[in-house]
Amino acid sequence: MSDLSQRIDENIARVADFPQEGIQYKDITSLFQNPALCAEIVDAFAEFSRGKIDVVCGIESRGFLFGIQIAQKLNLPFVLIRKQGKLPPPTIAESYELEYGSATIEVQPQYIQKGMRALIHDDVLATGGTAEASAKLIEKCGGVVTQFSFIADLTFLNGKEKLSHFTEDIQSLVG
Ligand code: PRP
Ligand code: MG
Repeated sequence: MSDLSQRIDENIARVADFPQEGIQYKDITSLFQNPALCAEIVDAFAEFSRGKIDVVCGIESRGFLFGIQIAQKLNLPFVLIRKQGKLPPPTIAESYELEYGSATIEVQPQYIQKGMRALIHDDVLATGGTAEASAKLIEKCGGVVTQFSFIADLTFLNGKEKLSHFTEDIQSLVG
């Protein structure tokens, strides 16, 4: 584990029995108590993506927190991937299965030009369902998903397996 990974890991709060008993929840919002560390995180994400993407696509809601900062740092546009019903039309939607039930996400297609190289960014990669649906959504709009980045990968859930057919260029700062 790199020095930065270790410091990020130490600064992520652990919450027992949330959202269900037996689950130890990693609360990445505790990182925002440490602005100097956040600046390093933005730098690490920006270095990973510099010159390789044309647009940053952040997944609601915690993917917005660093996503917008990566876009600003690289002087690139930022596109919001939101939960259903939040964005004004026109929108394109993609549904995916959850453990119980399903979810739908949306994007405004006018912000994705044909052939645009897109980074899909989120805070945590768990099962990979959300990131996979996001990538499908961006490709439906004509974009090409060339990178994914996450603060943390819960590797025991094997989420990366759902993403590798889009690109192998996947960054996770922890895990
Ligand atoms: C969490 C997390 C990721 C997603 C990962 O978001 O922030 O977006 O779940 O799960 P997956 O890899 O199994 O799809 P959540 O739905 O809790 O919403 P939030 O970001 O709005 O808090
Ligand atoms: Mg989320």
